[in-house]
Amino acid sequence: MFKTRITELLGIEYPIIVGTMMHLSRADFVAAVSDAGALGILASANYPDRESFRQAIRDVRRKTAKPFAVNLNMFPARERLDNNVYINVILDEGVKIVETSGHKAPEEYVDRLKNGGVTLIHKCVGVRYAKKAESLGVDAVTVVGYENGGATGRLDITTLCLVPRVVDNINIPVIAGGGVADGRGVAALMALGAEGVIMGTRFLVADECPLHADIKAALLSASELDTTLVLRSVGNTHRVWKNRASATTAEMEARGAGLEELFSIISGEQTRKMYFEGDIDSGLLACGQGIGLVKDCKPARQILLEISLEVRASRERLNALTQGTGQKH
Ligand SMILES: Cc1cc2nc3c(=O)[nH]c(=O)nc-3n(C[C@H](O)[C@H](O)[C@H](O)COP(=O)(O)O)c2cc1C
Repeated sequence: MFKTRITELLGIEYPIIVGTMMHLSRADFVAAVSDAGALGILASANYPDRESFRQAIRDVRRKTAKPFAVNLNMFPARERLDNNVYINVILDEGVKIVETSGHKAPEEYVDRLKNGGVTLIHKCVGVRYAKKAESLGVDAVTVVGYENGGATGRLDITTLCLVPRVVDNINIPVIAGGGVADGRGVAALMALGAEGVIMGTRFLVADECPLHADIKAALLSASELDTTLVLRSVGNTHRVWKNRASATTAEMEARGAGLEELFSIISGEQTRKMYFEGDIDSGLLACGQGIGLVKDCKPARQILLEISLEVRASRERLNALTQGTGQKH
């Protein structure tokens, strides 16, 4: 599709990174994505102790020889292992690529990871955060715009404006995303200067994504109007799918509920009930505006092949337009 500093750095066939998805980015899904030629990212925060995390890394390796990454979650959380415990396992197991994401720069982890030979990517939502990450010595930065599923931060910059601004302000390669759900979006972000594209929402309905079939079916009929922002009042803005839980969260925030009270909805228990038992209204599901472009469930390999054909079609369309022979689509 494209050869870039990102495909070279990460050793992947497609310049596509399937974003970390809390509760979902487990070994089978990650291995399927990586084996199909993109980069899968295992969410360390899914694992409550070092041995289950170690096992998950080994499971990915058993299923694919292709590159994969591990995410270190730096978002606020009620109870989670110290990231240094995950890093011990990452170094022990020889994991080659780590992504950090959260409300702060990964200052405290950079030296340990870099000295351990890890390629480090930091994900953030603004130019100044990207510059800070570059100054710390990370190898690549991922930036996601306001359209994206999951944490949107406070800046509310759309992908179209954010990506060229970041590309113009740092020298290390940029992976970009937020609202990309097909090959047209991939081509557009590469045209803006990105060297890789991150996608989450599109892969929520990949066959290998362990989300309950009823939730996948509901997502297929959603449009770009069916997401909303929650948790801004507690400094943790997330774009999620509109359902009863997101409406209740908004009501609670409007009357000034604090984090403790909000935990009755955002707890892992509610989320698991929804994701794995198919209870559509019990929890919050991160989801980007790109959901309006998602029309079918299929294997990750098939999604990637189709994206690659769509990228080619976009290039041909632009070429035809340049020659004055272009059609609308
Ligand atoms: C269900 C879901 C869960 C997510 N969980 C996380 C997470 O735990 N950590 C993180 O850094 N990003 C998380 N994200 C964000 C994705 O990694 C990725 O940045 C985002 O989905 C890209 O935007 P898109 O959804 O518009 O493609 C999540 C996204 C979704 C859809």
